[in-house]
Amino acid sequence: MELRGLRDDVYRRPLATALERLGLGPGWVCADVGAGGGDVSVALAEVVGRDGRVYAVDSDPQARDEVARAAAAHSQVVAITQAGEDLRLPEPVDLAFCRFLLLHVLDPSTVLARMAGAVRPGGWVVAQEPITSAGRIGGRPLSMPDARHTDVGALLPALARDAGLSTTDVWAEAPAGAGPGPVAEYLAALTGVDPGDEPVVLPPLVTLVARTAAD
Ligand SMILES: C[S@@+](CC[C@H](N)C(=O)[O-])C[C@H]1O[C@@H](n2cnc3c(N)ncnc32)[C@H](O)[C@@H]1O
Repeated sequence: MELRGLRDDVYRRPLATALERLGLGPGWVCADVGAGGGDVSVALAEVVGRDGRVYAVDSDPQARDEVARAAAAHSQVVAITQAGEDLRLPEPVDLAFCRFLLLHVLDPSTVLARMAGAVRPGGWVVAQEPITSAGRIGGRPLSMPDARHTDVGALLPALARDAGLSTTDVWAEAPAGAGPGPVAEYLAALTGVDPGDEPVVLPPLVTLVARTAAD
């Protein structure tokens, strides 16, 4: 299975927990920033339904085609090519979401602040970002040299505070396993390392659930 599908599988639980905590429902207007192939955009679209809207934003123009393919059955998904640093949406959103984005951007605080600025008063910002070095293969720490801010998950509470957000909840979850299965497959797709029978703890994903100030 390719990495995108595996990520959706092994990290599905934190996404579901976060969306339940918000009470995401029909008619919500959302932005999925750093949407990539659109897994999260589609998950959001299924909940907000035809009366809602999901702006799938990514700086890579190729993501637009991928999202269009993934969301072919969901006309409420609108793909936009834009950098998170320049986020400007056609309307204020109820929820601005990102997953595995802030570890790649130049300045995570700028992007989180732009996301907060895109949300209506009293709306929601949710970020799901890893603490890569807390992942383990056979008890040894994981590394991810290609990302800019590999442990940005650990900084989310402070980044939210600095963006003027009020944090409702923040927690970490890490899929773990030993031997063949989705966790080992994900690790192999991410790093090229086959862990064999060694125990694996994937990078904990920190979920931040925060709100903008009400009017
Ligand atoms: C690891 S993928 C995550 C995809 C998706 N959020 C998920 O969880 O499956 C990171 C995505 O962020 C996009 N990206 C990187 N820097 C960005 C930026 N400054 N603004 C918007 N998107 C960006 C990349 O093009 C890529 O599609």
